[in-house]
Amino acid sequence: MIKILDGKIIAQQIKAKIKSQVITITNRKPKLAVIIIGEDLASQMYVRTKIKACQECGIDGQVFSLTTTVTQKEIINKIEQLNSDNNIDGILVQLPLPKHLDTLAIINSITINKDVDGLTNINAGKLLQGDKKAMLPCTVKGILKLLNHYQIPISKQNITIINDSNIVGKPLALSLTNMGATVSIVHKLTKDLTIYTKEADIICSATGVYNIINSSQVKRDVVIIDVAINYQGKEKKVVGDINFEIMKNTASAITPVPGGVGPMTIAMLLENLMICYQLNNKYN
Ligand code: GUN
Repeated sequence: MIKILDGKIIAQQIKAKIKSQVITITNRKPKLAVIIIGEDLASQMYVRTKIKACQECGIDGQVFSLTTTVTQKEIINKIEQLNSDNNIDGILVQLPLPKHLDTLAIINSITINKDVDGLTNINAGKLLQGDKKAMLPCTVKGILKLLNHYQIPISKQNITIINDSNIVGKPLALSLTNMGATVSIVHKLTKDLTIYTKEADIICSATGVYNIINSSQVKRDVVIIDVAINYQGKEKKVVGDINFEIMKNTASAITPVPGGVGPMTIAMLLENLMICYQLNNKYN
């Protein structure tokens, strides 16, 4: 029987723990600043979910909504202002950004102790070097927590990641490599996806393409981590990259969509914020 890797329950436990920690803070509560640029509906929905999760745990969340016409300089000025604001512990710039903006320059202007997303070049560099103090991107940390919770081994495993982004694929590959896995990243230019999926003990998929792989492309008892959120059909049913019905007789475990990696990402954002809070309070 396929095992369902329930991220919702674990995320609830983590959030309850954070809430109980925040309650004990008698002075300034932790605070997250979220910058969102433009009108993208999915991004707006993600930001609402993040702020709601903060509020549930007693954490302050403030959203700075900027219009698509905002300039690079204005955004960086805003980030610099938040960098030096002692009431702000973490700064998150919701991605993707409108095309005219330089995403890397914007992300890298976040000061390291407020890099709650772990996306700055400094944290990415630390991860590359295997520095355990690197702030990990929330989705990556969430996947690792989920695998650890269900005692799914990583060391010596063949892991294929279908995503090469700076947010998921690359930091996930580095984290898993640091833990002793043999990792393949596949992407749009990969000639034959099946070569890599067929040998994988674990497959992590974040493509935005429903049905990206079927059961003939994986080996028996594979563990599937479905990172995507797609909307299927007229009813816009929430699905991932993987068709559960197709995989249920082949895979040994799978994360559901919704209720798998998504809630873990949010819980890890709160966990990272608490780390930032401690870092910032040390220097205040
Ligand atoms: N857009 C989609 N996922 C994320 C995330 O984890 N962090 C940020 N900043 N933007 C995102």
